[in-house]
Amino acid sequence: MGRLDGRVALVTGSSSGIGAATARRFAEEGARVAGFDQNPAPDGGPELFREGDVRDEAQVAAVVRAAIEELGGLDVVVNSAGVGGGGPVHQLSAEAWDRVIDINLKGTFLVCKHALAHMVEQRSGSIVNIASIEGLEGVDGGSAYNASKGGVVLLTRNLAIDYGRRGIRANCICPGLIDTPLTAGITGSEAMRDFKQRFIDAHHLGRLGRPEEIAAAALFLASDDASFVTGHALAVDGGVTAGHAFGARKMMGLE
Ligand SMILES: NC(=O)c1ccc[n+]([C@@H]2O[C@H](COP(=O)([O-])OP(=O)(O)OC[C@H]3O[C@@H](n4cnc5c(N)ncnc54)[C@H](O)[C@@H]3O)[C@@H](O)[C@H]2O)c1
Repeated sequence: MGRLDGRVALVTGSSSGIGAATARRFAEEGARVAGFDQNPAPDGGPELFREGDVRDEAQVAAVVRAAIEELGGLDVVVNSAGVGGGGPVHQLSAEAWDRVIDINLKGTFLVCKHALAHMVEQRSGSIVNIASIEGLEGVDGGSAYNASKGGVVLLTRNLAIDYGRRGIRANCICPGLIDTPLTAGITGSEAMRDFKQRFIDAHHLGRLGRPEEIAAAALFLASDDASFVTGHALAVDGGVTAGHAFGARKMMGLE
């Protein structure tokens, strides 16, 4: 028996990385999965798929409607569509700022908006937003990305407050650095190699995370196992936000 038997889930960003791993895992756990992404679905992708942009409200409304009409309802939403982007604020163009905020924050809002209209009537639902540890704390150069993910964390908490009495839970996951195409795009260059290694070192488990490890957390939050969990920002980050290591570990023979 699967942990999402009889449920319908919509996953955005389902064509790559965390979203693709989540769509796969949810299907393995018995859910009927609708995917939404600006890029085509991978082979063996979700049962229902619509290509589109999370910034386009009509396209978002259409995929929510398709999930309800063609898959028989909508119980779970995972917002994983997202992009990186930032840099020093005094050099950041307004266009670059808008792109990151619009995809990561407004896109999450639009999907929640249309899914919630259905969930409110249904009096049940679980929303899982993929935020970031960079929505919990700052990092050099984070600017637009951190602002967008901090917004996702607080939007999620507000959803938990506003819709709890309607049986709807809302949580977010704050991943550390996960081995996906997004990460490869940001840290793949020669110039970023040092940065990547330092970032990995900040993970006390000493490695990057895997998309499947975020999918497992999304499964927990989406399922009835998390029936009393709402408004939570779950760090799945190999320990980054636990605190800093300044060398004592080595002295203690624990490196
Ligand atoms: N990879 C990491 O280290 C990491 C860490 C923390 C948070 N996150 C977050 O996790 C989420 C997934 O990231 P990932 O690493 O799997 O990235 P990814 O690039 O592998 O996948 C992101 C997917 O989102 C889609 N997408 C981007 N913009 C879109 C748009 N406007 N409309 C529709 N689809 C769009 C892309 O086509 C892609 O398929 C993102 O929100 C990201 O910010 C990632």
